[in-house]
Amino acid sequence: MSATVNVSLPEYVKNDRFKAWFHEMVALCKPDNVHFCDGSDEEYQTLCEQMVQSGTFKRLNPAKRPNSFLALSDPSDVARVEDRTYICSRRKEDAGPTNNWINPREMRSTLAKIFDGCMQGRTMYVVPFSMGPLGSRIAQIGVQLTDSAYAAVNMKIMTRMGKKVWDVLGNNDFVPCMHSVGAPLAPGQQDVAWPCNKDQKYIVHFPEEREIWSYGSGYGGNALLGKKCFALRIASTMARDEGWLAEHMLIVGVEDPQKTKTYLAAAFPSACGKTNLAMLIPPQGFEGYKVTTVGDDIAWIKTGDDGKLYAINPEAGFFGVAPGTSDKSNPNAMETIKSNTIFTNCALTPDGDVWWEDMTDTPPPELIDWQGQAWTPAIAKETGRKAAHPNARFTAPAHQCPVIDKEWENPNGVPIAAFVFGGRRATTVPLVYQAVNWNFGVYLAATIGSEMTAAAAGTIGQVRRDPFAMLPFCGYHVGDHFNHWLQFGRELPNPPRIFGVNWFRKNKDGKFLWPGFGQNMRVLKWVVDRVQGRAAASESPLGWMPRYEDLSWKGLEDFSPEKFDELMTVDREAWKQEVLSHEELFAKLYDRLPKEFIWMRELMQSSLWRSPEHWHLEPERAE
Ligand code: OXD
Ligand code: MN
Repeated sequence: MSATVNVSLPEYVKNDRFKAWFHEMVALCKPDNVHFCDGSDEEYQTLCEQMVQSGTFKRLNPAKRPNSFLALSDPSDVARVEDRTYICSRRKEDAGPTNNWINPREMRSTLAKIFDGCMQGRTMYVVPFSMGPLGSRIAQIGVQLTDSAYAAVNMKIMTRMGKKVWDVLGNNDFVPCMHSVGAPLAPGQQDVAWPCNKDQKYIVHFPEEREIWSYGSGYGGNALLGKKCFALRIASTMARDEGWLAEHMLIVGVEDPQKTKTYLAAAFPSACGKTNLAMLIPPQGFEGYKVTTVGDDIAWIKTGDDGKLYAINPEAGFFGVAPGTSDKSNPNAMETIKSNTIFTNCALTPDGDVWWEDMTDTPPPELIDWQGQAWTPAIAKETGRKAAHPNARFTAPAHQCPVIDKEWENPNGVPIAAFVFGGRRATTVPLVYQAVNWNFGVYLAATIGSEMTAAAAGTIGQVRRDPFAMLPFCGYHVGDHFNHWLQFGRELPNPPRIFGVNWFRKNKDGKFLWPGFGQNMRVLKWVVDRVQGRAAASESPLGWMPRYEDLSWKGLEDFSPEKFDELMTVDREAWKQEVLSHEELFAKLYDRLPKEFIWMRELMQSSLWRSPEHWHLEPERAE
């Protein structure tokens, strides 16, 4: 087949490294056709229509959801595959204890075999893309070769994609991103709606060569290589080498009634409500405040000439979890996805729209579920079957978000005044606290975690550490990530303040103590006020904490000081346990554990040992 494929390059493609790589990859993968994506709207429409014809897409009712599509994946291809994700650094020690590693020579020989002829019967799409505004000093360029039209159209939404990228790239270097669904077609073989390889999946990163190879999956995080593979795993290694940060963080602007804007970057493990926080609507009592979205998942951060940190969102769209998203939980997201959106693994309503669990209080009487089967509330009750897959997604352009920050495409980024780190903790961790300095903040970030739920294997309630919320995304030794942050802070004249938050603390009856969602604005306001030097705090064994009177309760007056006290208590025994349990992570890091961490842990221990059994905030101890 490769002998007949037309591989003549468009005249605007002049990059020498690309040409050599491309010809090599065509010879290896043997596609029937090659399509150079120009990134135009016409091209997007054509590819979507082709997928409608082939059965991959269903066009949603234009009167309900204009220019939007639904794709239902193979039931085996619904999520990132962490156990098939590899960091193939030359030395195993450089991948560290949190990554899967295979010798790069061995991996290359495996890849050479599985990619041989993998695109037979298919079209190879050439997808040039910029992560970040085109030409920004913080942005980076990649080129994805893929046999998935689904990946190509999603990349059009999620990145700045197309012809214009070649002009910015010139003859400079780029990140080669190879992707195949791993399902070649024999002559005359009928394709399926969602091709993938059920038996073999590989999501491979070569951090030193800055290369990505993904095989066997068509699903978002495995197939849209600009996102987790490039913008986090490869970019985190670039950032370590070049002195910047690539983090699993949302970016928001908080504007006060005086119109002062403060930007925050916040890291949370997956499924802790990052998209909701990024699009928060201030509650009653916060008239004049505005929260604006720069990004909901990833931040790239560089130091400016003025010594401040500037962040861009490297993405151009939201690839958000659909179930749980509603007019109540996130009206801005609902508005964002009203049109021009690709839905994956959601349920289909009889009138040609999408639905998922908790979108509305009452489910529609009948649906086609994410596996294409008839679904009714009665069937769900009987069988427990979900209408939408719990990891069903929407892919929507960021500019459609009604609260998108007006600086979101500023190539220079937005100035970051504070970092916030959070996990999902039913016990132990208070609603909010501020680390005493950068180093303690790095320690706080390194030790965040989430309690495992009944859905995950392991003991319920056991804490899984997720350092910097980067556990599946740090492309190098996680201990070096801590060292990189410590060093980065040393070089800043006035490093941003670092805060810990926990929206998920529960009372003895298992009920959430904090209402969350829009009410998180009360915490954001305190964070902003601390940064601006306007808020008081009390010294605690963990750092600085707001007393009841330091938060604004306007609009939530019935939240009592007693309840707040319960939410903020530092329980000595629980914290002794907590600090001791940090050792579990630290022990895995051996010599790469920052020495500072040992001393900080000692210091925390000694202050806890001396603290009362249940440490409470006392008004007179305010700073
Ligand atoms: C995501 C994740 O998809 O963090 O953003 O898993
Ligand atoms: Mn994420």
